[in-house]
Amino acid sequence: MVGGWWFLLRKRLAWGLVWGRMVRLAVRSAVREDVEGIVALNRRVFEDVEMTGWEPWHLEAHLDVFPEGQLVLESGGDLVASSTSFRVMRERAMEPHTWMSITGGNELPKHDPEGDTLYGLELMVDPDWRGLGVSKMLYRARKVLARVLGLDAIVVGGRIPGFLEAQRKDPDLRVASYVDRVEAGDLVDPVLTAQLAAGFDPCGVLENYALDPHSVYHAVRLVWEA
Ligand SMILES: CC(C)(COP(=O)(O)OP(=O)(O)OC[C@H]1O[C@@H](n2cnc3c(N)ncnc32)[C@H](O)[C@@H]1OP(=O)(O)O)[C@@H](O)C(=O)NCCC(=O)NCCS
Repeated sequence: MVGGWWFLLRKRLAWGLVWGRMVRLAVRSAVREDVEGIVALNRRVFEDVEMTGWEPWHLEAHLDVFPEGQLVLESGGDLVASSTSFRVMRERAMEPHTWMSITGGNELPKHDPEGDTLYGLELMVDPDWRGLGVSKMLYRARKVLARVLGLDAIVVGGRIPGFLEAQRKDPDLRVASYVDRVEAGDLVDPVLTAQLAAGFDPCGVLENYALDPHSVYHAVRLVWEA
């Protein structure tokens, strides 16, 4: 299965217009040689947020428990973005949960090889490569993965890092209204807007989800039906 999946993703190449020149982007399964690059990307992306970062042994564990779920996007050998996911039963993903309760910890001990749902844990794009459609490519690859594995859905606990600032401006703003307003296009959120553009539907707020002060510790559950 892993070999077949690797081959499939090696074929998912695209050309993109970046900084006025055509570059070749490739989405593929992550391998052990990517671990250092993913750790460096994680530090860079989340340096301003007090969130638990990946250590090399966490990423090694992800490759041990669910290699198909770990994707990277590269250009000319440079790691541009990565995506981490694992499998759960849908009813668990649709119950109230936190990052810790759904994963069991950084090494994903609660990955369920029989799970009918892909849980999208993290997707990060190098700040120099934002706004170029990179996340859309990776979300598309996650959807291909869900279909190849015969899963029913993808569920994401999505960050809303624009919420803190929006609430500062309007202290009465509740998280559910914030999500509605981002969905309606009245407000733009740096993450939720991209996830909506990728075809995910909001399905409730997850309270106290993670140590993410910019999101006021909330996440939005997003669902894509396979
Ligand atoms: C969220 C994130 C993954 C988006 O990646 P990206 O490659 O820049 O997004 P894309 O270029 O694919 O954009 C997809 C869509 O979202 C929109 N979008 C992306 N970032 C946006 C922003 N900051 N503000 C408004 N819209 C944005 C784009 O306009 C595009 O919409 P369109 O297709 O209608 O034009 C990236 O900003 C990131 O890595 N953030 C930090 C890590 C993080 O918090 N990840 C969240 C999951 S854990």
